[in-house]
Amino acid sequence: MKRIVVMISGSGSNLQTIIDRIHHSDVDAQIVAVIANKADAYGLVRAADASIEAICIPSSDFAHDRVAYDQQLIQAIDQLAPDLIVLAGYMRILTDEFVHKYLGKLINIHPSLLPKYRGLNTHQRAIDNADTDHGVSIHFVTPELDGGPVIVQAKVPIFSDDSKDDLAERVQVQEHQIYPLVVKWFVEERLVMQDGYALMDNNQLGSQGFAADE
Ligand code: GAR
Repeated sequence: MKRIVVMISGSGSNLQTIIDRIHHSDVDAQIVAVIANKADAYGLVRAADASIEAICIPSSDFAHDRVAYDQQLIQAIDQLAPDLIVLAGYMRILTDEFVHKYLGKLINIHPSLLPKYRGLNTHQRAIDNADTDHGVSIHFVTPELDGGPVIVQAKVPIFSDDSKDDLAERVQVQEHQIYPLVVKWFVEERLVMQDGYALMDNNQLGSQGFAADE
């Protein structure tokens, strides 16, 4: 059975959907640990409630030393021997060393229709630009921030009276649908990263991932 490590910084609602889908036997995998860079990340409680090892490696001790911090992460992760590392609201930039080490088995969820709005504050930026739609992307992680090949996107409308919280809530409904699905594809070995592209069932996905086939 494939071994998954989930990395978080906060609430862990995406983590929860993956836990739930595994418990319902929709995804044949085991979450061997949840790692948070913040001690108060609620996802650690969700992990413990599900009898999953919950590890906190506080990044506040390494505010200015990403390399040393990521080396600690690597040490912890290598002991867990994961097949897949799922970034689920992990809000710290990873070093190139870390990314290269796990290239092809590292995926991230980002709340925008990439390549739009890399980085932070994506919901407010979409509203400020008077966009009419917004969404979420799941992608393989490469050293370029939020720049790795997209696996799938989900789109939502933006309404004129939306606050950023309204929009975030609408996007999260979609996040909870698509992230467990991508994890399922990966553990079933249908999804791989090769030569900088995401491949699904041996077919190269386009720049919008699966959404391009809608
Ligand atoms: C999610 O909305 C995810 O898209 C976002 O953090 C949230 C975590 O929610 N990720 C990023 O912004 C990554 N740059 P959760 O802790 O409830 O799963």
